[in-house]
Amino acid sequence: MGPGVCRDDEGVFPEIGWWELAVSAKLAGMKSNLKAIAPSPDIAARVDAIDWTQATTNLDAQGCAVLKGMLSPEECGDLARLYPDDKNFRSRVVMGRHGFGRGEYKYFSYPLPDPIAGLRPALYAKLCGVANRWNEAMGIDIRYPQNHDAFLKRCHEAGQVRPTPLLLQYGAGDYNCLHQDLYGEHVFPLQVAILLSEPGRDFTGGEFVLTEQRPRMQSRPEVVPLTQGDAVAFAVHHRPVQGTRGFYRVNLRHGVSRLRSGHRHTVGVIFHDAK
Ligand SMILES: [Fe+2]
Repeated sequence: MGPGVCRDDEGVFPEIGWWELAVSAKLAGMKSNLKAIAPSPDIAARVDAIDWTQATTNLDAQGCAVLKGMLSPEECGDLARLYPDDKNFRSRVVMGRHGFGRGEYKYFSYPLPDPIAGLRPALYAKLCGVANRWNEAMGIDIRYPQNHDAFLKRCHEAGQVRPTPLLLQYGAGDYNCLHQDLYGEHVFPLQVAILLSEPGRDFTGGEFVLTEQRPRMQSRPEVVPLTQGDAVAFAVHHRPVQGTRGFYRVNLRHGVSRLRSGHRHTVGVIFHDAK
């Protein structure tokens, strides 16, 4: 996922990576391919089994929460191995060409592969209460429907029809600059990243990093320790923090520190679609 201060080639969105392929011709096909996906019973049970009370507490306190064991090692390997085959993806972004860092990523095409297709609506349903509560605390009028399909319909009606889940690939020396994954008017305020590689065995370095920019204060860094298959849920853009005189907003960015060795794959699950 690329840095937020950069702009796409058309200079429209303060955004992460932008498409390197001409995809406008595919849009009609994408719409017709998009079907409502019900999470498989296995995925739904796995998401249900997470301690969401603790996760919510962590999100409120830190702006992020680790969701342990979201994917099995086999599922991680299967997803990482999709990377070379372009038929799974709609575009590829080489971060160095855009000033986003070093390394590359690809946006999945619809239909999304399992288990991402099932995880996206299942995780959304668990996070939308936090999203609505955060917006209320920040004085933002937007509320999110309980059902991910209903939220995607809102995105698509506003022209945000391109799938945003993505697969990232880092090698030694690669890193991802601090950024925000905003892709248009409609933004779901939380997103999830899943580590597909095993730290220490597959790579060293390459920590997931968050920063919180607080009004009139210095920024706060947070390094999130993950092992293979763990997910981290985190704020896309901003979140409320309780102060002595009510809530104030802090602005979050995320990125990945430099890999010292090896290879690291990650899946990013962003809940809004892109223009
Ligand atoms: Fe990102």
